[in-house]
Amino acid sequence: MSDAPRIVLLPGDGIGPEIVAAATQLLEALGEFDFDERLMGGCSIDAHGVALTDEVLAACRESDAVLLGAVGGPKWDTTDPDAPRPEQGLLGLRKGMGLYANLRPVRPSPALVGASPLREERIAGTDLLVVRELTGGIYFGDSGRDGDSAHDTCEYSTAEIERIARTGFEAAQRRAGGGSHTPRVTSVDKANVLETSRLWREVVGRVASDYPGVELDHLLVDNAAMQLVSRPAEFDVIVTENLFGDILSDESAMLTGSLGMLPSASLGEAGAPGLFEPVHGSAPDIAGQGIANPLATFLSAAMMLRHGLGRPGDAERIESAVDVVLERGLRTPDLAAADDTSVGTDAMTEAVLNQLFA
Ligand code: IPM
Ligand code: MG
Repeated sequence: MSDAPRIVLLPGDGIGPEIVAAATQLLEALGEFDFDERLMGGCSIDAHGVALTDEVLAACRESDAVLLGAVGGPKWDTTDPDAPRPEQGLLGLRKGMGLYANLRPVRPSPALVGASPLREERIAGTDLLVVRELTGGIYFGDSGRDGDSAHDTCEYSTAEIERIARTGFEAAQRRAGGGSHTPRVTSVDKANVLETSRLWREVVGRVASDYPGVELDHLLVDNAAMQLVSRPAEFDVIVTENLFGDILSDESAMLTGSLGMLPSASLGEAGAPGLFEPVHGSAPDIAGQGIANPLATFLSAAMMLRHGLGRPGDAERIESAVDVVLERGLRTPDLAAADDTSVGTDAMTEAVLNQLFA
């Protein structure tokens, strides 16, 4: 057996297969990896009737890391509570692999600040990290229909809040790296209404005393949503529960002007395999046309190298190659302004590949 890292590839649906194939090319150029490609999402529903089979979950748990494209599409959209849904595959992986911490960094690429819907002076200097709790809250509480009503229950334990708070404080320390800025964690909740949020605020406050060098502030989620667009550059690390994190991370993603640029990492206990995926979805409207933007998947592969495989040097190589290629003006259609010419997935991949060895 080779001792190359074992990576499960889950291309998924829509543009997923195109962007994962592109990222695989990049990884192959950087070293030796043992890839194991599997079905998850709508494609797995078509083949097996469920979005995630036990075999695929087992393969992921036994891997060194999982690289995911995207899942879902109109073909599998349904409101029938008993029909399988592609998203169940993703939720099953998060729970089954114990991936409680979702990291979504938002740092507009210097070449793309003009693409933000916000004015350049407002976005300048934005460099934040959303740390989202990923295996608790309303996503995993009891839910159901009772006659003509329905319910979803939000529950959090002290232990669940404590471990994600630590992820947040540690990420803030790491990002500051002994440099000049004071690391800051903004904990987001709805403590004026929700009991889970009051527990959240209490526990995060307690954990903070173990990280005296990190500033902590608390924001209510509605206020946080507003401040993210009015003063994005002032955020450092945002720590929040599952549903708030889902919403705020899409909002933060749009600060960069393209959802097509943002990577994410979902991590569990130290030493357990993580899952790495672009934040954008499966974009079924452009699937198969060769125009999907592979950059968020490249940056997710970089996060995999850094957080999952202990290869920060390779991660930085990918990240700076992406920056250089954008600086040179290459754009996939989603990034292109009206007067830009754009390139497809292959040409973008080729350009980043060449830059890796420049
Ligand atoms: C995300 C997605 C998922 C979520 C969906 C696809 C279940 O929106 O990763 O942010 O809500 O967590
Ligand atoms: Mg989301």
